Amino acid sequence: MDVKEQVREKYGQAALRVKSGGSSCCGSTRASIDRADPITSKLYDACQTSVIPEEAVLASLGCGNPTALAQLKPGETVLDLGSGGGIDVLLSAKRVGPSGKAYGLDMTDEMLDLARENQRKAGVENVEFLKGEIEHIPLPDNSVDVVISNCVINLSADKDRVLREAFRVLKPGGRFAVSDVVTRGQIPADVRQNILLWVGCIAGALEDHEYVGKLAKAGFDGIDVEPTRVYNIEDARTFLTGQGVDVDAIAPQVEGKFMSAFIRAVKPGAKDCCKPDCCL
Ligand SMILES: C[S@@+](CC[C@H](N)C(=O)[O-])C[C@H]1O[C@@H](n2cnc3c(N)ncnc32)[C@H](O)[C@@H]1O
Repeated sequence: MDVKEQVREKYGQAALRVKSGGSSCCGSTRASIDRADPITSKLYDACQTSVIPEEAVLASLGCGNPTALAQLKPGETVLDLGSGGGIDVLLSAKRVGPSGKAYGLDMTDEMLDLARENQRKAGVENVEFLKGEIEHIPLPDNSVDVVISNCVINLSADKDRVLREAFRVLKPGGRFAVSDVVTRGQIPADVRQNILLWVGCIAGALEDHEYVGKLAKAGFDGIDVEPTRVYNIEDARTFLTGQGVDVDAIAPQVEGKFMSAFIRAVKPGAKDCCKPDCCL
């Protein structure tokens, strides 16, 4: 099975688990199956979770909170790459208000069904969930103010293509505001693979400087990678021990090197709207 099929199957099962009243966490690739998962837990505060359906919160499989970090304004159009159960789309829709719009894009039918059900329960109308791949975004050029995403780009086997597509659909001056897993510094290949398996990064995470380089290559400016949660070897001990890894031996090669980060960038070329005719 290729990476994309593995990802589709894994998240299809996660969506079905939420629908049947279970947790969305995937025991074999996430650290634990309870809500104390060091990657996916405690990302949203009570003010946010109280305004959306519980199922959207239970389906949350991100590693950050892009809606808290992106400066969304009323009237803006937001696109969430890999929207899952829809938590960040529903939160964005509330932030951009009825004059704005939030799109969620996902390739997994079961996740789209869950997201649309969550939209119905939330009673929000300025939301649309699209079926498709983040490598081929089904929206026109220059049509979106903000691209958000939460722990999805690391799952793509063609990250350059995803970043080019994000750049294409953003309007000039549009913002890329994404949470993702990144690595930092030299890590032996086997240690890297074991930890990323624990985190659930099937296709592999980028090193922070690689992310910056790929965003620049896609055309972005104002690039910044800000760590939001650095993973501890103790978080991964049970999983790694189960994989036959000597956790104490690899601990020094892991500390401070695996993290969730908030990644910001801007598509250049916003018009200077001080002039009378420039917004036409
Ligand atoms: C880790 S979950 C994150 C879901 C959501 N962003 C959240 O924070 O809960 C990954 C989601 O991305 C979707 N996905 C992964 N790779 C994708 C791709 N190449 N194109 C479209 N969707 C993708 C999966 O179906 C899944 O719903």
